[in-house]
Amino acid sequence: MPDFKIAPSILSADFAKLGEEVDTVLSSGADIVHFDVMDNHYVPNLTIGPMVCEALRKHGVTAPIDAHLMVKPVDDMIRSFIDAGATYITFHPEASDHIDRSLQLIRDGGCKAGLVFNPATPLHYMDYVMDKLDMVLLMSVNPGFGGQKFIPGTLDKLRIAREKIDQSGRAIRLEIDGGVTVDNIREIAEAGADTFVAGSAIFKTDNYKETIDAMRAQLAL
Ligand code: DX5
Ligand code: ZN
Repeated sequence: MPDFKIAPSILSADFAKLGEEVDTVLSSGADIVHFDVMDNHYVPNLTIGPMVCEALRKHGVTAPIDAHLMVKPVDDMIRSFIDAGATYITFHPEASDHIDRSLQLIRDGGCKAGLVFNPATPLHYMDYVMDKLDMVLLMSVNPGFGGQKFIPGTLDKLRIAREKIDQSGRAIRLEIDGGVTVDNIREIAEAGADTFVAGSAIFKTDNYKETIDAMRAQLAL
């Protein structure tokens, strides 16, 4: 069985008590904190930035923080998130003029680097930078908001991405983001994902542990 990781998106958490929310979701069995950064320019919404990432570290969060940058341009934010203590930094290829350089910037900063593919973005952006990737993130909704429905065509795209990663022989995580629930997580895993972002499916339930356990039970089937 692959080493599955569950990455709750704090976009759907209660921002008025964010530290507590992150503590609760981690003690409920989450592996990674998915941190959605939106700039009201690349995507039509505005969320949180490096100061909040740093605040979570100061609060005592030691789990990996997966900063998903939906910002344009990306390089300044990459630098800020390196300093703020991010573990993974991922960005959308459309948002960088020099994809290879941005990936290198992340790695030089000691973080793990990833590319994010919108539903209609072709996967070939990864072809010549495989050696600089620690993560490939496929969006299964259009970025900007939590609580949207999973776009079914992403399953085929996942299978293709899985093949490319396996052929490379590299340890690159394949993450899926958008509309992931207890009901569809298993078929998403079967299509090749090993890292699952879930925002509303976890934070809009009363008991995070029950939900995360139910997701893991599906993955173990
Ligand atoms: C959307 C974000 C997602 C979002 C997922 O742009 O990248 O991480 O929060 O939310 P759900 O799981 O509710 O679809
Ligand atoms: Zn995200």
